[in-house]
Amino acid sequence: MTSGLRIRPEEPGDRTAIRSLHVAAFGGDAEADLVDRLRRDGDLSLSLVACADTVLGHVAFSPLTLPEAPGIRALALAPVAVLPDFHAQGIGTALIEDGLQRLADEGADLVLVLGDPAYYGEFGFQAEDTSALSTPYDGPYLQALFLTEAGRNARGPVAYANAFAELA
Ligand SMILES: CC(C)(COP(=O)(O)OP(=O)(O)OC[C@H]1O[C@@H](n2cnc3c(N)ncnc32)[C@H](O)[C@@H]1OP(=O)(O)O)[C@@H](O)C(=O)NCCC(=O)NCCS
Repeated sequence: MTSGLRIRPEEPGDRTAIRSLHVAAFGGDAEADLVDRLRRDGDLSLSLVACADTVLGHVAFSPLTLPEAPGIRALALAPVAVLPDFHAQGIGTALIEDGLQRLADEGADLVLVLGDPAYYGEFGFQAEDTSALSTPYDGPYLQALFLTEAGRNARGPVAYANAFAELA
């Protein structure tokens, strides 16, 4: 773990660094644009940075809408990235664990993520737990983490924040 690493909510002065680290980590603008659009739309429900002297990583969570489970508080985890020179030092794990803990503390019911099951399985996400849900990203890379029994019982279609429809 990088010494002096701190996880905290993003501040206005972090925006350029957040954009740069997504471009560096993903090798393109798509995820950086997604974060900017989520922020523009007021859909960054939780946006955390990992910083030492500078910002090294970022994770975003945005709202999901479940018309058939209107009482559910559900979120998408996306994107998450760490500056390439700082990979494999536990920063991504720290960001995701901190974010999930904050969401659990706030009473969130369900989190969905699209990504490598080998990575997200470590946090308790499971692809089979999405079987009662219908999303634009259905398939083996879509995984769910239930934070409450209500989340476990959620059924039906799931709509992502509008910014996802603009993904390149
Ligand atoms: C994915 C990412 C955020 C992980 O951050 P990180 O700080 O390097 O991750 P951590 O150090 O917390 O965890 C590293 C562990 O996860 C594993 N890991 C990292 N990326 C992985 C992946 N895509 N699939 C499977 N395992 C992965 C590493 O092998 C390592 O395992 P170990 O602890 O057993 O050695 C980072 O690699 C990144 O920014 N990648 C480019 C952007 C990206 O792909 N984001 C995710 C989109 S779904």
